[in-house]
Amino acid sequence: MNMPILIQAPMRGITTMHYRKAFVRHFQGLDIEMAPFISTVGADRINPRLLNDVLPENISGLPLIPQLIGNNADDFVQMAIALHELGYTELNWNLGCPHKPIRKKRRGSGLLPYPDTVDALLDQICDRSPCKLSVKVRLGVSDKSELMALIPVLNKYPLSEVVIHPRTAEQMYDGNVDLDAFEEAFHLLELPVCYNGDINNLAFFQALRQRFPDIVRFMLGRGLLANPFLCEQIKDGLTQGREATKHLDSDARASGASWLGARKNYVERIAAFHDELLSSYVSVLHGDHPVLGKMKEFWTYQSIHLSNGRQMFKKLKKTQRLSTYKAIVDEFLAKAEWVA
Ligand SMILES: Cc1cc2nc3c(=O)[nH]c(=O)nc-3n(C[C@H](O)[C@H](O)[C@H](O)COP(=O)(O)O)c2cc1C
Repeated sequence: MNMPILIQAPMRGITTMHYRKAFVRHFQGLDIEMAPFISTVGADRINPRLLNDVLPENISGLPLIPQLIGNNADDFVQMAIALHELGYTELNWNLGCPHKPIRKKRRGSGLLPYPDTVDALLDQICDRSPCKLSVKVRLGVSDKSELMALIPVLNKYPLSEVVIHPRTAEQMYDGNVDLDAFEEAFHLLELPVCYNGDINNLAFFQALRQRFPDIVRFMLGRGLLANPFLCEQIKDGLTQGREATKHLDSDARASGASWLGARKNYVERIAAFHDELLSSYVSVLHGDHPVLGKMKEFWTYQSIHLSNGRQMFKKLKKTQRLSTYKAIVDEFLAKAEWVA
């Protein structure tokens, strides 16, 4: 079986350039990142501020795929040209965002029930964009039949991949992923397919690999935010700990760290990652409030596998000052154990 390609899911507000840069300095095993969506705008409104998150000077060093959300072919193509000028050769089109205000404007998953509109947009975009295109989809707004009806349209275009999150938009992030529907879509698609959804632990990943041995690309979202060691664990597990450890070990040695030592202390690694992310936000955001907003969102996921994470998060949520925040984090991390 091929070594899987692991892709960090775009998570708007969370997997920012600050998060991505800190992540690759502290964790291994991830192959590609997809940046959170940028809304398409007219050519006159494209500027470095809008593209800040994906400017070459802000990338982590891993291959990055920018993502666009929109339903206007001219705007999309102009953004693709701007991103191509920055050096990007591949973009992703968000056809999965489930939020109602976006859906109502027929953007994100709101386009899934309209195959003719998607067809017309893809026709223009694929013809005029200088970048290769992939799409990220859900099963539909309310029913998987919407994706199934869209697949003949997708098959007409040379898309580099179709990332499928097998939930409907109405499900948001609740309920189960529908692996039968994913399987059906995978068989109908004549394009490379990437699986995304609920890869929260090694056991689920291994079950997916067994059921879908031909899938090599996997996108990890909340599971990786909660357990940033997950890509290491997946790759380590696949090579029964030997080849991957050797590889990770040599990387760690090259960076002056002791991988085996570090592995023993997951909490210390989380603390170092946290400190770097915090300094990064402190250096660009003004005042305690915005920094605390970012860090509280970070802990929504990052506290899950800490033995005292729940109590820490409860306390953190009420904090209004950065100094109090730091004291709480230090106090809890000093006593925390990693429980994934
Ligand atoms: C807070 C949040 C922000 C998200 N932002 C984006 C986004 O910008 N673009 C996108 O395609 N999906 C976005 N998603 C969806 C994720 O990329 C992913 O598809 C979803 O979380 C399911 O994967 P998971 O079960 O591994 O988390 C977001 C999800 C969450 C919870």
